[in-house]
Amino acid sequence: MTSPVRIAVIGAGYWGKKIIREILDVGRSTGRVQLHAVVDNSPTMLAQCEKEFGPSDYRVDYQGLLDDPELSGVHICTPNSTHFEVASSFLKHGKNVLVEKPLTLNSKEAYQLVKIAQENKKVLCVGHIHRFNNGVRELRQAINSGILGELYYVRFGWTGFLPPQGYREVITDLAPHPFDICNYLLDMWPNKITCRGKGYRTKENEEVAFITAEHPSGLAAQVEVSWLDREKRRDVTVVGSKGMAYLDCSEQKGLLHASNSTEISITPSNTIREEVTHFVDCISGNLNSKPFSNLSDGMLGARVVSILEAARESLRQERTVEVQMPLAEEIRAK
Ligand SMILES: NC(=O)c1ccc[n+]([C@@H]2O[C@H](COP(=O)([O-])OP(=O)(O)OC[C@H]3O[C@@H](n4cnc5c(N)ncnc54)[C@H](O)[C@@H]3O)[C@@H](O)[C@H]2O)c1
Repeated sequence: MTSPVRIAVIGAGYWGKKIIREILDVGRSTGRVQLHAVVDNSPTMLAQCEKEFGPSDYRVDYQGLLDDPELSGVHICTPNSTHFEVASSFLKHGKNVLVEKPLTLNSKEAYQLVKIAQENKKVLCVGHIHRFNNGVRELRQAINSGILGELYYVRFGWTGFLPPQGYREVITDLAPHPFDICNYLLDMWPNKITCRGKGYRTKENEEVAFITAEHPSGLAAQVEVSWLDREKRRDVTVVGSKGMAYLDCSEQKGLLHASNSTEISITPSNTIREEVTHFVDCISGNLNSKPFSNLSDGMLGARVVSILEAARESLRQERTVEVQMPLAEEIRAK
């Protein structure tokens, strides 16, 4: 049997702990992956992890891991503002990288990361977890079967109440998933974005935003993201000429209203487990970051960052803006 792929988790907060738990579980049940180290610059977080997960290599600084020959890859769960610095450091040192969403805070850095991964022939994945959601997969199949007819529009609700978030804003935090799912369902990217949004409790940062994404085909996607809504929603509705479909992405439950109304048959997947396993597959299969060569490729992450950037620009300029997406060849040539 081949030796397990050794992965370190960088950032062991709310999301990092979920990833650690899953890596340990996949390791126990398949022997294909091993938790190499856990890094968090907060000793308190590390102490919590040690209590929950037992002995491991716990560190407050990742620098010592950059040249560690045993380490294959890192799963980066640090705050968004650190993604570029941490990911580029590991890629430049020949490590494979999975970065949580959003890939980076701006598109210049996002495409730069894609390029660094290509130059170093390393895997770059992004944490677009719904690529591994069986509900989303079944919805895509329903759309492709033609049962909904010609598609008119898609609507996303990504809401849930949070206390004031200080420096964070809702577009960067919540909109990556709807836009990634939209691309997965439709196989296309929007070319025009119109965004309106507002912060009520934190005046300087948006807490709710309404984003309209127009596609070259004429199809529109409407995305609502909010930290003010008391109802937690992670849902998508697809409306077409012959019917409509609704999916609760968290519960992985869906309804189809066409000639009659039926439940969409879905066997829910463990999305984090599949994401972890897919990263291991990419590393062991040496699936380097050619555009979209793996299910959650860094290029997908960069495309989504372009959309988020357009949304913030639209908000700033109070008008519809074009989405700027460089071609894969242009990124390589830069
Ligand atoms: N895929 C998803 O559905 C999903 C869900 C939640 C969060 N996330 C993403 O995960 C990331 C982390 O979010 P979170 O909610 O866990 O945040 P968090 O604040 O709970 O955790 C971040 C952790 O990183 C540590 N940290 C900060 N800078 C560091 C550095 N330079 N080196 C090492 N550790 C550092 C902090 O001490 C903290 O423990 C974000 O990018 C977020 O967008 C993704």
